[in-house]
Amino acid sequence: MDFKRAAVVGSGQMGGGIAHVLAASGMSVVLIDVKKEFLDRALAAIRGNMERQADKGVLARSDMEAALKRIRTSLKPEDAGEAQVAIEAVTEDLDLKKGIFSRLDAACPPEAMLATNTSSLSVTAMAAATKRPSRVVGMHFMNPVPVMKLVEIVPGLETSEETLQAAKALAVKLGKEPVVSKDFPGFISNRVLMPMINEACYALMEGVAAKEDIDKVMRLGMNHPMGPLALADFIGIDTCLYIMETLHRGFGDSKYRPCPLLRKMAEAGRLGRKAGRGFYEYPDR
Ligand code: CAA
Repeated sequence: MDFKRAAVVGSGQMGGGIAHVLAASGMSVVLIDVKKEFLDRALAAIRGNMERQADKGVLARSDMEAALKRIRTSLKPEDAGEAQVAIEAVTEDLDLKKGIFSRLDAACPPEAMLATNTSSLSVTAMAAATKRPSRVVGMHFMNPVPVMKLVEIVPGLETSEETLQAAKALAVKLGKEPVVSKDFPGFISNRVLMPMINEACYALMEGVAAKEDIDKVMRLGMNHPMGPLALADFIGIDTCLYIMETLHRGFGDSKYRPCPLLRKMAEAGRLGRKAGRGFYEYPDR
């Protein structure tokens, strides 16, 4: 299917980034959230990130203005009615996501593909909240979406081969590299990444080294662009904790137990960059 019209539900960092790359690829996008102020903030962030790309020559200025015009906003999932593909990118809460899937199912044409950007939850469970489980698939983008090349494509138990191929083709159209993962907790990315971040928290909690040194080891010793604690701040401490809990619950294996320090940071509201402080301080936020 040649996708031309998309809807994105959830206008946070991920939803905004997804709307950005969809619009930049020539598609028209309706970006949906529950509050106008969230949508206004997302549009400002998309403009800022496109400006950055225009300054670097990655995106022509005329293309940028045209892409921004292709994004409209709405407060109702029902406004996804014209979309050929709807991508859900709300908080990692399975019940919330299932509710959105059921509303998108009612609103979108029967042939539309419904995708979730979940980072660890069951695609199969979301698909079961619709009457079209064969047309539901996981499309897990990485943050920052305009920069990161990967999209994990996750077929649920009932996802058809046609839907799987359509999701892969959409990722390629967006300039991304698709990798298929089975629908197990955390897929590939977070099954490997999050235990590393969790272990870095244990090392900090046990006083093995200072946070800067833990991060330096992974940056300079392993060539990671960010150390694991800085990356946890970037992703969001609450998201990291939630993914660890999903791995722990999903596999029932104690090797995935969330580090108590990670839990304490979330309880304290030290949620990372978005909160102005996490392992590090972000005074500009
Ligand atoms: N939109 C558009 N462009 C952006 C951008 C954005 N939001 N953020 C950064 N960029 C661009 C910059 O303009 C810059 O472009 P050039 O290379 O052309 O100069 C480039 O990206 C690098 O950015 P900066 O120079 O500002 O800063 P940096 O070199 O420190 O890179 C980074 C920033 C790209 C975020 C880099 O630190 C990085 O790759 N970090 C790791 C990110 C990562 O691991 N992401 C995955 C998180 S896990 C996840 O998302 C999944 C999950 O489920 C939790």
